[in-house]
Amino acid sequence: MRDANPRTVYLKDYTVPDYLIQHVDLNFTLDEENTRVVSRLTMCRNPASRSSDTSLTLAGENLQLIRVVLNEDNELGDKDYLQTPDSLIIHDVPQQRSFVLTIENGIDPKANTALEGLYLSNGMLCTQCEAEGFRKITYFLDRPDVMADFTTTITADRDRFPVLLSNGNKVGHGNLPDNRHWVTWKDPFKKPCYLFALVAGQLECVEDYFTTVSGRDITLQIFVEKHDLDKCGHAMQSLKNAMAWDEQVYGREYDLDLYMIVAVSHFNMGAMENKGLNVFNTKFVLARPDTATDADYEHIEGVIGHEYFHNWTGNRITCRDWFQLSLKEGFTVFRDQEFTGDRTSKAVKRIEDVNMLRTRQFAEDAGPLAHPIRPDAYIEINNFYTLTVYEKGAEIVRMLHTLLGADGFRKGSDLYFERHDGQAVTCDDFVSAMEAANGADLSQFRRWYAQAGTPVINVAQHYDAAQKTLSLTLSQYCPPTPGQPAKEPLLIPITTGLINKDGSPALCRLQDGEAAEQVVLQLTQPEQTFVLADLNEEPIVSVLRGFSAPVKLAMNRPLDELAFLLSHDPDTFNRWDAGQQLAVQVISGLIVDYQDGSELAVNPLLIDAYKKVLAHPWEDLSYFSLLMTLPSELYLTEQMRVVDVEAIHYAREAVAKALAEQLREPLEALYLKHHRDESGQFDAGAIGRRRIKNTCLAYLARLDADWVQHWALQQFNSAKNMTDQLAALTVIVNHPHPASQQCLDSFYEQWRHEALVIDKWFTTQASSPLPGTFEKVLDLLDHPAFDIKNPNRVRSLIGAFSQSNPLHFHAASGQGYQFLADRILELNSLNPQVASRMVGALTSWRRYDEKRQGLMKAQLERIISTPAISKDVYEVAVKSLA
Ligand code: PHE
Ligand code: ZN
Repeated sequence: MRDANPRTVYLKDYTVPDYLIQHVDLNFTLDEENTRVVSRLTMCRNPASRSSDTSLTLAGENLQLIRVVLNEDNELGDKDYLQTPDSLIIHDVPQQRSFVLTIENGIDPKANTALEGLYLSNGMLCTQCEAEGFRKITYFLDRPDVMADFTTTITADRDRFPVLLSNGNKVGHGNLPDNRHWVTWKDPFKKPCYLFALVAGQLECVEDYFTTVSGRDITLQIFVEKHDLDKCGHAMQSLKNAMAWDEQVYGREYDLDLYMIVAVSHFNMGAMENKGLNVFNTKFVLARPDTATDADYEHIEGVIGHEYFHNWTGNRITCRDWFQLSLKEGFTVFRDQEFTGDRTSKAVKRIEDVNMLRTRQFAEDAGPLAHPIRPDAYIEINNFYTLTVYEKGAEIVRMLHTLLGADGFRKGSDLYFERHDGQAVTCDDFVSAMEAANGADLSQFRRWYAQAGTPVINVAQHYDAAQKTLSLTLSQYCPPTPGQPAKEPLLIPITTGLINKDGSPALCRLQDGEAAEQVVLQLTQPEQTFVLADLNEEPIVSVLRGFSAPVKLAMNRPLDELAFLLSHDPDTFNRWDAGQQLAVQVISGLIVDYQDGSELAVNPLLIDAYKKVLAHPWEDLSYFSLLMTLPSELYLTEQMRVVDVEAIHYAREAVAKALAEQLREPLEALYLKHHRDESGQFDAGAIGRRRIKNTCLAYLARLDADWVQHWALQQFNSAKNMTDQLAALTVIVNHPHPASQQCLDSFYEQWRHEALVIDKWFTTQASSPLPGTFEKVLDLLDHPAFDIKNPNRVRSLIGAFSQSNPLHFHAASGQGYQFLADRILELNSLNPQVASRMVGALTSWRRYDEKRQGLMKAQLERIISTPAISKDVYEVAVKSLA
């Protein structure tokens, strides 16, 4: 646990490693409680190192050291090395030629509840090494710029561990006395140790193959527990889709002959891109129409793609150090977003991604933990797998794509792969490749990597009828963030279009440019004016199309102009966003009315705008559903200076109810039109029909009428797909319903053997706005199916309550805060990474009223003053109080 003063690591202190490892030969003798590891490292002094120290320091944690041997026969004694809680220092190693260091140590996977290193997940043994987990397996140079080739031999009991997996190709296997067997794996590609993986257990496998562009047949295997064999089809198809997409869009072919995926029930994150052997949270593999929702299907394809794409962006080319994390994550998220957009609906995918960015990442960027996508200091690197590094990182890559165009971007990525294959590099190397391939100067753009905070863009327009020009004056301002009081102006691409008053598009022509449907304005100055020519009348401007930059647009448009854009903007993102801004303005007015105790009367302009949306003949019903969805409570939270969770909830509910009452007929008709069960259908059409139908049901539920309750119950009882069943259950649990408990009980009985469905059961209850939810959450903690050692369960109950139920979590009494801090302290000693994630809900304390601020702060103070607090939890809590 924590030293008095946990050490901060700084980017500016980076130095090359003093030693290199060329070859790693690992030998595992597996046992749940006492696994033996023999690691034989072929090493040498790094010629690039400038240190004169002849000692060698290897990282290692929680290891029982058994012996150390230098060059095969020189067994080292106590005086030859020093063991510290997190390292092994060998006083003297050869400097002039390479040497072999053999280390034997023991580890206890069963005691490993942190799920980092080698651990037990539902009876199988598996590893998680990113970021610094390999040091919990054996002593090593655990840093990504040390790349080696690995050979791994695993020996284990044949019944307990019939399947033995590691990276690369299987090169040998055999039986041993005492019902034991062994397998040897060899990975021909050099890799950092964070990409090492080992899995052993009673696993079953689904197999398929993929033929690459160059005609190589790749064997694809998905390993799961036996009863999940019928839930692998979608993941397998997704993998094949991802392999084909990366060939087509990036010209990248898979390199090994085998690609394996293992699904594990106990996992801290979503999935892990270990070379040739991805380890996945079951949540992102298993799906059957009756157990997984349409959203789950989409997420599975996205995550399978994400991990597959890492093979080139992360594995073949990796990060020099962990400050460069966004090099692989930002780029790979951008790649998976585009993949999903191509596979589903580009418009819908973009809106979903921006929604998440604007609610969660903008909050992070505006709070005490704000950091650049390339941070410059950390205490615990696991705390930097953030929305900023991932999602904002992807937006930075997307801006390069926008600035350079698809062809220019592809030239840049080709050059990046060509220059750096087999290397551990920096974000700067990536930008340099983009620059060199395009003859571009991206020096100002590089500031996006170093500066935190969300820029605010102001737009002023002036039409000159005599000149027929429209002047757009854009300005940028980025508020201070911790450690960065003043910001430099950024290069911000702002895609802009024009619409005539009759709704037809107007062409955009910048001085001495060509006329086009839209232009990318490159804002580089604090304030800058762009002149658009040849405009016979003053057009309506559509700014930041496609959300071309991760910024806040401060444009206070009149409601009727927003309604106009909602009807006419040809840009699918801005059209949707106009509806969101319209709703935000109306709800914001009602928030004030609620606080004043006035009656909540909904502006008819909003009702009318939604009525028009309902009347339009949409083809993409998923997009239609998004247009019909009000901004979330969390997005509204972001718009308020002092957050008032009750006012937000009741004002938003008032609007939803008014829409349900006044648009009841079209909503009803739409529900009935699509309410037919289409289980097993996963094309965009069926997904869209389910989505719009369930959107209508959720509105109609606000009427609190018997007939709607009946519709919901009927849908719940007859649904054969999880999307419809869960949508009905959610409506039943979120609104007073006589059969609510009965439905929850029968759902539990139906799905008690499907852990991922039971997670949904917990989440649904923890997210309800109805009174009594807090007491329910307390009861659920004692439910036999609740297991604090399973991260998915923790997220489904504690995470959902604290992060997705603002009304109850922020109850004025402070009971929600105390509850969360209790759970964090309980988790702290079991799984610091998961505990640290849960602190997130308390870090935004400055956004609330004084009383809540005091209550939240008190819990944070209680957390940091706990003696055995982990550095994971400590870092987040202490920084949020600073
Ligand atoms: N590298 C993984 C991904 O983004 C995430 C991860 C990080 C998983 C750390 C486990 C531990 O795909
Ligand atoms: Zn990733």
